[in-house]
Amino acid sequence: MTADKPLLQVLAGASTWPPPIWLMRQAGRYLPEYRQLRAKAGDFLTLCLTPELAAEATMQPIRRYRMDAAILFSDILLVPWALGRGLEYREGEGPILPPLRAVGDVAGLEPGQVLARVGPVLQTVRLVRSALSAEGFADVSLIGFAGGPFTVACYMVEGAGSRDFPATRRLAFGDPALFARLLDVLTDATVVYLEGQIAAGAETVMLFDSWAGILSPSQFRAHVVRTTRRIVAELGRRCPGIPVIGFPRLAGVLLAAYAAETGVHAIGLDTSSDLVSIRHAVGAGLPLQGNLDPVAVAVGGGAMMRETAGLLHAMRGRPSIFNLGHGLVPETPPEHVAALVEFVRAGRTET
Ligand code: CP3
Repeated sequence: MTADKPLLQVLAGASTWPPPIWLMRQAGRYLPEYRQLRAKAGDFLTLCLTPELAAEATMQPIRRYRMDAAILFSDILLVPWALGRGLEYREGEGPILPPLRAVGDVAGLEPGQVLARVGPVLQTVRLVRSALSAEGFADVSLIGFAGGPFTVACYMVEGAGSRDFPATRRLAFGDPALFARLLDVLTDATVVYLEGQIAAGAETVMLFDSWAGILSPSQFRAHVVRTTRRIVAELGRRCPGIPVIGFPRLAGVLLAAYAAETGVHAIGLDTSSDLVSIRHAVGAGLPLQGNLDPVAVAVGGGAMMRETAGLLHAMRGRPSIFNLGHGLVPETPPEHVAALVEFVRAGRTET
């Protein structure tokens, strides 16, 4: 029930105090219990595709910190995997995919085939929903997610992570029809994937567009705004009442256009955004989520507390969700996260 869940209340426009808190990458390598689970699974993809283990990873930060939200443990690259493109995670190297550069590489991609392959992920969602009620976390919301089509396309075209994805940007300018076709397939696949997560029990969904900030304004509108608007509109028809949180990382001044034109119900801010000026640029009632620098949590102590107090001060009086500007880094001491949660829950705007 929305009424009992602080995160859903804020997404519906309420200004609760203190703000609800969850953290991007709250499940992950900084937690010893995650490293143990990851060792048991063998590799990361197996962990994502084994519902009992993925549900366990999702629950770990909830049990440890009682966060206000659990986020499905999975990865944005499960969509290209489900479309039949290869995917491998190499130790210390990150994800590797076969680079997509030619018309023939897109021709065979069928958005309809995604649902058939993501069954284990949807089963994870169901297991987490029952674990949350069975373990007494009735006020904890469950967040589903997918990558923004542009960010997923970045990894598919480049074939790996990159600082600025040159091959992807070259393809977008050099063969706009092919690039648009790829984004359309990913948009359709994302809609059915998120609809599946919602049917399985996700109460809100987040779109991670981590590389939105590498684009020119016109390319940002064509590849980020256009695809996001279609996903939000389509989910609004198929799953009315489910809020969508958009995270167009490093969009900068284009955040205002993103907020006005996509229809997202809340915006995740990256570390570089100023909460005070952003709230003048986007509608006053639009819930904002963010945006502590994850490095401040790795360092901890007074530096983390001062930054946090400043953010809390800026959040007061408007619908806000406390989070980071990007994911927790693996070297973060888990006790720093405990101290952060305690500080936010006390609603302290001074140190
Ligand atoms: O706790 C959570 O936030 C939920 C799970 C989650 C993961 N990845 C788990 C993961 C979520 C929401 C993601 C999103 C994701 N995945 C993004 C968008 C957010 C961002 O960080 O910008 C991106 C770009 C990816 C793609 C991806 N997955 C990369 C580039 C890497 C390698 C880098 C890294 O951090 O290891 C991954 C692997 C990954 N995804 C791990 C985790 C916990 C580490 C895997 C391991 O155990 O070795």
